[in-house]
Amino acid sequence: MEAPAPRFDRPDHTPPEPDGAAVEAAIRRAIDEGRRDLVDIVGAGELTIALRWTSGGRPCVVKRMPPYPDRISAEQYMEVVRGNITRLEALGVRCVSNTMQLVERQDGKPVVIHCQPLLDADTLADHVLRTRTPSADEPLVTTLVDRVVAAVSNGEPIDPQFANWCWVDDDLWLLDLSTPFVMNGKDIVYDTSGFQREFPWVIRRLVYRELMKAAIKYTTDVEYVLTDVMTQLHRVGMSGWCQPFADATLARHGISIDPAVAKQRCDADAKFYPFLLRSKRVERRWRQLTRRRYDALLPEKSTFE
Ligand SMILES: Nc1ncnc2c1ncn2[C@@H]1O[C@H](COP(=O)(O)OP(=O)(O)O)[C@@H](O)[C@H]1O
Ligand SMILES: [Mg+2]
Repeated sequence: MEAPAPRFDRPDHTPPEPDGAAVEAAIRRAIDEGRRDLVDIVGAGELTIALRWTSGGRPCVVKRMPPYPDRISAEQYMEVVRGNITRLEALGVRCVSNTMQLVERQDGKPVVIHCQPLLDADTLADHVLRTRTPSADEPLVTTLVDRVVAAVSNGEPIDPQFANWCWVDDDLWLLDLSTPFVMNGKDIVYDTSGFQREFPWVIRRLVYRELMKAAIKYTTDVEYVLTDVMTQLHRVGMSGWCQPFADATLARHGISIDPAVAKQRCDADAKFYPFLLRSKRVERRWRQLTRRRYDALLPEKSTFE
C-alpha cells in the first residue's frame, strides 16, 4: 500500500516542481472569474498570495509574481532573488527552500512562480508567538532580533515581521523571499512594472514613490526595520510583545526602539494599505470595462483590515 501523502513539509526540503502552466491557468481563471474560491489560498500578505498546490503527490506552496515585459527582466529578477537568499544565508539567516520557474505566456509576458514546501501553519512564527508569554528572552524574539541586525547592518534587505518566518528545529526560517528590496539608488534593481500596473495610472507613480521610501530604509536602517516588526505586532493585536521586543534589541545590540513610534506607523499603514487595495480594485474594474486583462489575484482584504 502506498504511504499517504504528507500534509506538510520541512522548510529545508526542496519542493516538487509543479506544472507552471497549470498554476498560471488556475490563477488566470480565478482572476478572470473573480473567484478566489477556485484556488486554495494558504496566506496573503500585501504583495503576494500563497496557494496550496500538489505535485507528484507532495504538498507545496506556489507564489506567482506579476508578469515581466520580457524574458530578460524575468531572469534578472530571479537572479536578484537568488543573490538575496545566498547573501542572507551567508549572514546566518536560514531561508525556506525556494525554487522558481519562468512560465512563458501566450502574450509574450513571462511570469515567475515560486515554489516552497508547504509548512505547517502551527509552525509559522506569528502563530507560535501567540502561544507564548511575552518576554525579552523568548528565543523567537532573540533569534529574530539577531538575524535582522546581521542582515541589515550588512546592507542586505530582509522583511522580518513574524508572519514571514517559521519556527522549526528551534530556529527561524525566512519564507517571504519573493520581493527582496535590493536597491540601486532610490529604486529596486529589477523590473517592477508588473507590480506598478496593478494600480490606476493616475496614482501609480505616487504610490510607487511612497513604497520606495520605505524600501530604501530596509537596506540601510536597522532601527527602522526593527521598529517595523513592532508595527506588525500592533497590527496583529500582539502589542503586548512590543516592549519585550524593544527590551531585547536594547539588551542585545544597544538599539533603542519605541513601541509608540511603531503604533503611529501602524495607524498610518492602517489607512494606506486598505487604500492601496481599494485602488487596485478600481483598476481591475476599469480593465474589465475596457476589456483588458488584470493580472493580479487580489486578496479579500488588506492585512490591515
Ligand atoms: N511555504 C509556506 N507554507 C505555509 N504558509 C506560507 C508559506 N509561504 C507563505 N505562507 C503564508 O502566506 C503568507 C504570505 O506569504 P508571503 O511570502 O509572506 O507574501 P507577502 O510578500 O505578500 O507578505 C505568509 O505570511 C504565510 O502565512
Ligand atoms: Mg510576508
